[in-house]
Amino acid sequence: MGTVVLGTGSCLPEKVLTNLELESIVDTSAEWIKSRTGIESRHIGGKGEKTYQLATQAAQKALDSAGVAAEEIGLIVLGTISSHMLMPSSACFVQKELGAKNAFAYDINAACSGFLYGMDLADKYIKADHAMKVLVIGAETLSSRLNWQDRNTCILFGDGAGAAVLGYSPTDRGIIGSNMHSDGSLWQLLCMHAPESLNPDLVVDGNAGAYIQMEGREVFKHAVRAMADAVSGLLEREKISRESLSLVIPHQANMRILNNLIDRLHIPQSKVFINVSKYGNTSAASIPIALDEAHGSGLIAQGDTILFCSFGGGFTWGATLIKW
Ligand code: ACO
Repeated sequence: MGTVVLGTGSCLPEKVLTNLELESIVDTSAEWIKSRTGIESRHIGGKGEKTYQLATQAAQKALDSAGVAAEEIGLIVLGTISSHMLMPSSACFVQKELGAKNAFAYDINAACSGFLYGMDLADKYIKADHAMKVLVIGAETLSSRLNWQDRNTCILFGDGAGAAVLGYSPTDRGIIGSNMHSDGSLWQLLCMHAPESLNPDLVVDGNAGAYIQMEGREVFKHAVRAMADAVSGLLEREKISRESLSLVIPHQANMRILNNLIDRLHIPQSKVFINVSKYGNTSAASIPIALDEAHGSGLIAQGDTILFCSFGGGFTWGATLIKW
């Protein structure tokens, strides 16, 4: 073990978009959204509000809560699929904004699994270099990447950011293990094309558009099965019983996925942290926002065993266990 969370933070844009307001944007009903997904509202970035700006605010809060100065950070890893630029990375913008001058920084594109992939990476860096402190962030402004005429997708997602500072502790606490997976063969089920080439010679007819596209029912089936398998595999490998888990913080996709996952895992719902009704699916930001809320509300105590699991486009998925 040894890699512990030193502090957490999160940031949600001010504007809240309710299901009722969505009725005037796309052919849907507030009742349909709530009953099918459990989502009641989501936060949406303002005009020009960028992913790195939400990420920077969440990161600063995480640094404050950890009592760590920006200059002490050696690495910034940011999970996102909604950067405002393809180059440089949003992580580099965060590094500049924070004044984290001793950190190298890069983004991870693992969709909703971006934060857990980042934690796994941070764990390996910290185990190799005990002096290293890593800022792991998940941040999205997916409202800028949605087709607001597509009711299959635009009702599901929201914007936000969450962050955690990870460092070494010479104790028996810390990340116990992780169980990460990808399957690129199913990419079409959940994807977002890059913007059209600006070179007219390279433009392909029928470009499918630089917004999220999804086969909802297929994604649902794969998501539940994959997360449940990743969790079971990890618990078995680490010889940890379901009963000994203090809290489960899953990716907040939607209530139907969460309910099915809870059924499959045989874990009481009272042990599962859920906030999807307020924020919708914030992709890479969903786990760190939930972690920060759970931490801030006193739901996590030192020595607790916490389980995380996620699933997203790629497909990417995984589970992580930590002794807090
Ligand atoms: N409002 C009203 N009606 C709708 C809407 C909407 N927003 N969206 C779809 N419908 C209609 C469909 O057109 C369809 O109508 P039809 O039967 O006349 O054709 C009907 O509702 C059922 O549509 P389905 O897509 O089959 O609805 P389903 O019951 O499967 O539920 C849901 C949809 C909740 C999105 C489900 O497929 C799901 O959970 N998928 C996983 C998607 C997800 O969470 N993706 C996020 C990224 S991956 C991740 O984070 C894990």
